[in-house]
Amino acid sequence: MMKIVYFSLTGQTRRFVKKTGLDAFEITASNSFTDFDEPYVLIVPTYEKDVVTPVFDFLENGRNAEFCAGVAGGGNRNFAELFVFTAKDIAKDYHVPLLYTFEFNGTEEDVKYIQKVVKSLES
Ligand SMILES: Cc1cc2nc3c(=O)[nH]c(=O)nc-3n(C[C@H](O)[C@H](O)[C@H](O)COP(=O)(O)O)c2cc1C
Repeated sequence: MMKIVYFSLTGQTRRFVKKTGLDAFEITASNSFTDFDEPYVLIVPTYEKDVVTPVFDFLENGRNAEFCAGVAGGGNRNFAELFVFTAKDIAKDYHVPLLYTFEFNGTEEDVKYIQKVVKSLES
């Protein structure tokens, strides 16, 4: 089973991930140097770079970037052209697909979609 790796500052992304029921690892400031040795989908909220430092620490650690199968981004469309820029930047910088974008903790439709995407990456 493909795992979810995610970061959440105010709990929205955590709520989204919980709703998917998928096996997940939450990156925090104290575990960001964990070594991953299996493919995973990264789900990140959108903030200035210094706020999401643990995500970049995680990606830079060991072979973690290699095992990233893709990234999904949570954000707020009110930020207009800055909507989900964190996930977009990661997709570009780490050459991984931007799999999906959603707002806050996601709708039922968002949950179903990400479950489908993760399943399709497993086969
Ligand atoms: C200070 C601040 C800056 C934010 N900047 C952006 C942004 O540039 N683009 C965007 O799409 N969302 C932005 N957001 C919205 C969050 O990324 C969004 O609410 C997300 O769901 C929060 O996830 P979390 O609760 O897991 O941390 C910002 C939120 C805050 C509080």
